[in-house]
Amino acid sequence: MNLLSASASADYIFTIGAEHCGEGRARNALLDRVMAPNWRKKSSNALRRGSMPSRDLALVARDDSGTLVGTVRLWDVASSNGTPALLLGPLAVECTLKSSGIGSALMKAAISKAAELGHGAILLVGDAAYYERFGFSASLTKNLAMPGPYEQHRLLGLELQESALKNASGVLVPTGRKRASNQNRLSTRIVG
Ligand SMILES: CC(C)(COP(=O)(O)OP(=O)(O)OC[C@H]1O[C@@H](n2cnc3c(N)ncnc32)[C@H](O)[C@@H]1OP(=O)(O)O)[C@@H](O)C(=O)NCCC(=O)NCCS
Repeated sequence: MNLLSASASADYIFTIGAEHCGEGRARNALLDRVMAPNWRKKSSNALRRGSMPSRDLALVARDDSGTLVGTVRLWDVASSNGTPALLLGPLAVECTLKSSGIGSALMKAAISKAAELGHGAILLVGDAAYYERFGFSASLTKNLAMPGPYEQHRLLGLELQESALKNASGVLVPTGRKRASNQNRLSTRIVG
């Protein structure tokens, strides 16, 4: 069973678990509802495009009927001088359910799973006012850069292992497993 945690706020019950392969459409629909319209054009997305999330690090929140109400995914990246890390995002929660603790539960589950899997550090681009509560800080990313437009004070880091980001510097590059292209999938169907 993939259940990572179950939580209840005063009037809302949800569970956190691994995203199933059939949930991609519901996840994308949630992101389109919740995120700013230009979210696909952000620099973080350039690091995700064409890649699969890091193994076992695509998590969702579901309500008690099984409907997907939150999502977070983490991606394998490295600094240009070779320090590996995870890039977290997007994190999103259904608009009508904000401040029910779902975002925090997803963040805690993601951090705990990443540590359990032996990853050294997590990076993200987001509001420090939200992410500092989970231990993220801009002081760890001063020598790092995104491969496109972003605000440096919003590039935040969390070390899961001591000094994991100490020597990290340069522009982030994707290092994850590549997603099969539509062309490859089509060829596989025709040939196979
Ligand atoms: C950010 C987001 C994931 C938080 O999810 P959530 O389930 O509402 O979060 P939680 O219930 O765990 O925490 C809510 C608290 O975080 C605060 N919070 C939410 N977004 C915040 C932000 N950007 N900056 C500062 N505080 C924020 C809320 O005010 C609330 O504070 P309170 O506990 O004092 O009432 C959700 O608001 C969302 O999907 N936003 C749109 C997408 C987005 O902005 N993603 C993050 C990119 S930076």
